[in-house]
Formats: sequence, C-alpha cells, structure tokens
Amino acid sequence: MAQIVTRTVDGRRLEAYPVLDGDLFLVIVDDERLDDLFSREDVIRMISGRVTMDAEEEFTGLEDTDRYLDSGQQGVVFSRADPDIVTKLVFLPGSLSIGDQRRAERRRGLDPWGSMVGSTILAANRHQADLFRSLAEQSGPPSLPRVYEYREGKMDAPTRRRLISAGVPDNRLPPTGWPVAAWVMERVQPVQPNDSNTDTPRRQALDYLWKEHGMVARDLAGDSGNWGLREDGSYVIIDPLVVRIPQSVIAKPPLSLNGAIRALSAIKRQDENSYISTVAPFGATMTRGQESLAMILLSLNLAYVKPDPAFADLVVDMRGGSKPSFPISYLGYPHSQIPFM
Ligand SMILES: Nc1ncnc2c1ncn2[C@@H]1O[C@H](COP(=O)(O)OP(=O)(O)OP(=O)(O)O)[C@@H](O)[C@H]1O
Ligand SMILES: [Mg+2]
Repeated sequence: MAQIVTRTVDGRRLEAYPVLDGDLFLVIVDDERLDDLFSREDVIRMISGRVTMDAEEEFTGLEDTDRYLDSGQQGVVFSRADPDIVTKLVFLPGSLSIGDQRRAERRRGLDPWGSMVGSTILAANRHQADLFRSLAEQSGPPSLPRVYEYREGKMDAPTRRRLISAGVPDNRLPPTGWPVAAWVMERVQPVQPNDSNTDTPRRQALDYLWKEHGMVARDLAGDSGNWGLREDGSYVIIDPLVVRIPQSVIAKPPLSLNGAIRALSAIKRQDENSYISTVAPFGATMTRGQESLAMILLSLNLAYVKPDPAFADLVVDMRGGSKPSFPISYLGYPHSQIPFM
C-alpha cells in the first residue's frame, strides 16, 4: 500500500508522498519540493534504513453508524442511522499542485478525469466543497440541498478502511493524510426527471450560484443522475458540478465570444492552477472546457450585464423555435446542449 515516508538522510529531511495510484512519489527535501515525480524504486534508492509513517490525524467525517450508500466518480455517499440525512465524502487537491499533477498525468498517459484522484476530479471537488461549506453556513434556494454540517481534514486510517470496505478500489484511494471534505446533507430520492418541472429549480439554482458565488454549473440535465426529489414533490440538485469564475474575469465582463476566450487565456498566463481548475471541469479536454466556459460567460453577460434582444432570439432558436415560459437568460439554453449538458 502506498504510504507517506519521512526520513532524515545526511541531516536533511526527506518526505516522499505517494500520488496517482501510488505509482509515483512527490519528494520534498527540507521543505523544498523537487520538480519531478519519482518512482518507488527512485525513492528506495534515495533513502536507507528505517522508514516511519507520518502520524495520522484524526478525521471524524464518518460516524460508526454510517453505511455505504452509493458513489460516483467524485465522491462516496454514506447513509446515517437517521434516515433523513446522508454524508458525502470527496478528496481535495493535495500538496501536489493541479498543474504539476496534470503534467505528471500527461507524461504517464493517466486520465485527469480518473475517479477519486484525477486532477480534474480534485479541482471540481474543491469548487463543490466550497459551495457546500457555504450552504452549511447559510442555506441556498430550495433547489439546492439543505446542508447541516461541513468538515475538512486529513484522511485517517479508519476512514480509509471504511472506503475500502465500501468498495472503492485501493488504487483509487490516496494515502492517509490526504485532504478530504465531508458534508452532511438532507437525503432525497434520486430521480431522472424528464419533464419541464426542473426548469424553474434549475434556473433558481443557477441564478443563486452566479449572483451569490460567481459560480457556473453544468451536468444539470434531467438524466444527469444529479437530481433528487423531496417528499413534498420539490426537485433538488444533489450534485451540481460547479466552478467559481476568477474575479479578474467577473470584473471585466467580456461581451463577445473572442473576448471571453481572451479573458480565459489571460488567466492561463497569470495563474496556471486557477486556469486549469476553472476550465478543466467544463470539457473532456482543456480546449472543450475553455469553449464551453467562454459560451457561458458570454451568455451570462448578455443576460445580466448588457441585455441583448438578439440573445433572446438565439435562445428561442436553440429551443427549436419554442418560446420558454420564463424570461430568457443564459439559463435558457436547452440542457442537452453546451453549455449545460
Ligand atoms: N442527498 C442525497 N440523498 C440521497 N442519495 C444521494 C444524495 N447524494 C448522493 N446520493 C446518491 O449517491 C450517488 C453519488 O452521489 P453524487 O452524484 O453526489 O456523487 P459524485 O461522485 O459526485 O457523482 P458523479 O461522479 O456520479 O457525478 C448519487 O447518484 C445518489 O444515488
Ligand atoms: Mg452525480
């Protein structure tokens, strides 16, 4: 099993931190991170003698009575003894930056969308965790889940064992000590609505995300597997894939598609990690992600910042000529198409 190793070699402190299925190690010497990632054999060559494991930090994200319920690519969901709530646990970016992880994945031909630990998954989890942390402090619109508790910590060995017995393959699990977030939220009935009754709750959620958090969302189609139904018949988006748009883009709203693409390219030059974290979750590739996000930014600005009547016509066109029953905004896109597939 992949473990964190700490060793003093020639008076210098060396830490080897397993990443990417434990295939590779991030090495830190005297608090300075080496630029490359190393194989297990490399690390064994670097160290000699007794190897100690880092002290485990307690993480109480799960309770004894929690039972595995279901999981997706991003996280694992447990039910509680209380039938009205569930706990969702996700991994967050570790000490390896998203940019460095991305490069390592590319060199090794690994999938950035790889379940639990791919760089895109970790980036998306960070945004989603931020949203749920704030929902725990102050609830959002009825179309987003009620969140009762939010915690972040470092995964301890018991939690890791729970995840293994829940069926998460060992090689998809980072080592103990890896940052995780867990939140307790209301339990709803997962559904795949195929009616237009999701239009209003979807709009409500997207409006809230944009206005309150500067966030945009995707994966909100009825069949995305991300909707739930309350007993009172109301729909809830249980797993919104969100990203927060960097302040520099919000401050200068682009009003053309090229402008939006340029604004995103500018972040790429200024802050690579922020660029990847913002763009990657919105497409299978970075190029597709940037295109989708540029479309969204443009439509947001045409809807909220500088309303354009031509935009409303465009949306009606995209809906096959049918006029939506609510005022048109960027939320008027048919959800089977970019940007909200
Ligand atoms: N609040 C909830 N109430 C009931 N069941 C839930 C709830 N949240 C999640 N689930 C169940 O757990 C499954 C996985 O949850 P979720 O979709 O949040 O995980 P994910 O890993 O982010 O998703 P994915 O990668 O599939 O998009 C859901 O498909 C659903 O069956
Ligand atoms: Mg899901």
